[in-house]
Amino acid sequence: MSRRAVIEAVGHAVPAKVYTNEELAREKGIDTSDEWIVQRTGIKERHICTGDEGCHSLAIEAGREALRRSGLQPSDIEMVIVGTVSGDYIWPSTACFVQDALGIKNAGAFDVSAACAGFIYSLANATALIETGVIEHALVIGVDALSKQVDWTDRSTCILFGDAAAAVVVSAVEGGDRGVIKTVMLSDGSGAPFITNDAGGTKYPPNCVAPEGIKYGIQMKGNEVYRFAIKAMGDACEKVLLEAGINASEVDLFVPHQANLRIIDAAAERFKFPSEKVFVNVHKYGNTSGGSIPLALYEAVETGRLKPGMLVLTVGFGAGLVWGANLIRW
Ligand code: UT7
Repeated sequence: MSRRAVIEAVGHAVPAKVYTNEELAREKGIDTSDEWIVQRTGIKERHICTGDEGCHSLAIEAGREALRRSGLQPSDIEMVIVGTVSGDYIWPSTACFVQDALGIKNAGAFDVSAACAGFIYSLANATALIETGVIEHALVIGVDALSKQVDWTDRSTCILFGDAAAAVVVSAVEGGDRGVIKTVMLSDGSGAPFITNDAGGTKYPPNCVAPEGIKYGIQMKGNEVYRFAIKAMGDACEKVLLEAGINASEVDLFVPHQANLRIIDAAAERFKFPSEKVFVNVHKYGNTSGGSIPLALYEAVETGRLKPGMLVLTVGFGAGLVWGANLIRW
C-alpha cells in the first residue's frame, strides 16, 4: 500500500501527584506492602488525579502537546479519536471535549471503548480512515483515570491502576516504508465478567437500588485476567507478525501494555526479545489502561529508544475481553 498512516508526533499528560506503594497504602488505608506489590506486579508508584484533574483534562493536555509538536494547525486535523473507558461523563464523548478545547473545527470526534486495548483500536481506526483516503490527519489519544473507578477497599485491584494520557498525530504519507504496517484486533465477550464495573450504566443506573453484590467500581478476577493476558498478548503478537510476514527477530522495540511486569516478561520471553528491546515503565505509572501504550511510546521517543525507521510492536489487552497488536514502522 503506498498511502500509509504515519505517527508524526507524540504528546503526554500525567497528574503531578505521585503515590509510592507505601504512600498509597497509608493514605487509602490498604492492608498491603511495597514488597507484595513490587513482587507481584513490578509497580513502585503511580500518578493519581487530584482536584479538578480527570480524564478530560489529561486528554486535552496530551492532545495539545502532540498537536504542537506535529507543527500542524488545529484546522488540519480531520478526526479526533479517544480510547477511554473513564470519560468525565458517560456521554458525550471525551473526543468532543478535546475537539472543542483544542479548537479543532473541521473534524469528526468519537471515543473507542476497548479498555487497555483502547489505543490499539483507536490507532487502527485512524489508520483505516487515512489509508482509504477519508482523512489526512488524525489526533489519536489513549487516556484513563481509573483511580476514580477503583474500589479502594479491594486491595487486589486498587493498587494496580494509575492515571495518564498520551496522544499521537497520525498523518497520511504517500510512499516510503514508515507507518502502521498491520493491526490485529480480537475479542471474547464471554470473558466480560473477568473485569467489570457493574453499576452506573443503564442496567443499574446510579440512582437505582442495585441487587446484592452489584456496585460501582472496578471488579476483577485477577487470576483469570492474568492467565488470559499471558496467552492473549503472545497470540496477538504472533498473528500480527505472521500476517505482516515479519519475523520477531526483526522487531526493534516491543511496547506492551504496562499492566504487570510478570505479564510483560512472559510475552517478551515467548518471542525471545532481549531486555533492551522491551520497553517497560509500569514501575513508574502502574496500569494506566488506555494511556499505557501511547505513554510508553512517548517515553521511548523521549529517551531516544524509539527513532524514525525502527520497527515497533505494540500489544494490549483489557476488559471486554479485548486484545490486539499494532506493528508500526516508526
Ligand atoms: O489491564 C488489565 C488489568 N488487569 C491485569 O492485568 C491483572 C492481571 N492479574 C494480576 O496482575 C494478578 O492476578 C494480581 C496482581 C492482581 C494478583 O496477583 P496474584 O499473584 O494473582 O495474587 P492472588 O490474587 O492469587 O492473591 C494471592 C494472595 C491472597 O492471599 P491468600 O488468599 O493467599 O492468603 C490475596 O489475598 O495475595 C493476597 N493479596 C494481597 N496481599 C497484599 C491480594 N492483593 C494483595 C495486596 N497486598 N495488594
